[in-house]
Amino acid sequence: MSTKDSDRDDARAAAIEEALGGIGQRISEAEAASEVCECKQGMFALAATRRQLFGGAGLVAAVGMTGVLPRTGAAKAPPGAVEYPVPADSTKEQGRMMGEDGGYGSRSQFESDVRWANPTRTASFAPLQNGYGVITPSGLHYERHHGGIPTIDPARHRLVLHGLVDRPMKYSLADLKRFPTVSRTYFMECSGTTGSEIMKAREPTVQRTHGLVSTSEWTGVPLSTLLRQTGLKPGAAWVLAEGADAAVMTRSVPIDKCLSDALVVFAQNGEAIRPEQGYPMRLFLPGWEGNISIKWLRRLEVSDKPNYTREETSKYTDLVTKTGKARMFTFTMEAKSVITFPSGDMKLPGAGFYEITGLAWSGRGKIARVEVSTDSGKNWSLAALQDPVLPICQTRFRFPWIWDGTPAVIQSRATDETGYSQPTHQQLIEERGPLESGSLFYHMNAIQSWAIARDGSVKNVHPLG
Ligand code: CO
Repeated sequence: MSTKDSDRDDARAAAIEEALGGIGQRISEAEAASEVCECKQGMFALAATRRQLFGGAGLVAAVGMTGVLPRTGAAKAPPGAVEYPVPADSTKEQGRMMGEDGGYGSRSQFESDVRWANPTRTASFAPLQNGYGVITPSGLHYERHHGGIPTIDPARHRLVLHGLVDRPMKYSLADLKRFPTVSRTYFMECSGTTGSEIMKAREPTVQRTHGLVSTSEWTGVPLSTLLRQTGLKPGAAWVLAEGADAAVMTRSVPIDKCLSDALVVFAQNGEAIRPEQGYPMRLFLPGWEGNISIKWLRRLEVSDKPNYTREETSKYTDLVTKTGKARMFTFTMEAKSVITFPSGDMKLPGAGFYEITGLAWSGRGKIARVEVSTDSGKNWSLAALQDPVLPICQTRFRFPWIWDGTPAVIQSRATDETGYSQPTHQQLIEERGPLESGSLFYHMNAIQSWAIARDGSVKNVHPLG
């Protein structure tokens, strides 16, 4: 690094330090002292205890002694939460007893992020704009169903492995759990994510542009372990995976994937997988388009060729409009990233410090670097990556930024460990031709742009106009 570069970095660090000092409300020591209440005394061994202060009346009398704050807006709790009265002073009233929730917790009544379902209710999108770290809460993981969410009794569910095998097998969930298991943190992405954004900016928010990607810790049995039990006959080259949903969702999977990192998973983020994620068991093919990780998995049939099912011929093939031909069996989700804050439909309160943050991921391995531009792609700077950077997992990136209050376009560009860099829309269109009306541009991983206007409002914008 040259002296000039390091001087510039020093100046930038000093400017950020100064901007950070302007955040929050400066108070005097006297004002701070007024926040200290008598209730704190019970925390010190030699001071009068709270019980003594209340004249020995104890907790029973204390409950309900203080006021309840009026709740603005609806008194109905958001999904996943329970509405409770809010005491005026939470230090003056005994809190709720454990067990009141029946033993399964809920989120705060003040948190309201939910999945957004498309009008046909066939897909729901994770609220990436308000996420933290890389794990998607199970209740906010994106969904894509082809025949709704089936209700399956795990006691009656079976997984059958047959076809070009030496010993056809049937396993219950209890059987499956007896095999050695692994836990891996992987992203999953629908191959249609951002597909409608290829020609122009359409959706207002990052939830609606990029929300068909999520990350969970998945626990299950390597499929290779199960295939070792059945054995494989000569010629075994593909496996048909079939779901127990109303669509009987089926996809053909190359045997090499089944023998490498494929899993049959039954747990997500430390508990049983959610019904909408395939309860009681699903296939999980790391780094591949989401729909091939068949949910509600009930059958695996080994064969010598692909089955050319509906969902891999009429759907989930990529029409190359330049040649009129279609790409088939395009499995891997290539490197991609998006800035989640600031993002579409947000409004920055004014010039000053902001931490630009977002997510990057690649179906081919680890993210090597993420660059951020705040001037419409003219200059790019390295963002910090949150450790640990895991393969085939979302990686959180962060970039400190002082917005000067003038219009700006912010972008992120991911590069994975294979050296592949996220393309522009123009590059993708040159490769595969423009999107024809009525079709869907699968595997769309172009660089996303958000424009920040002078008034701080953030909008989805498209580099091609
Ligand atoms: Co594909």
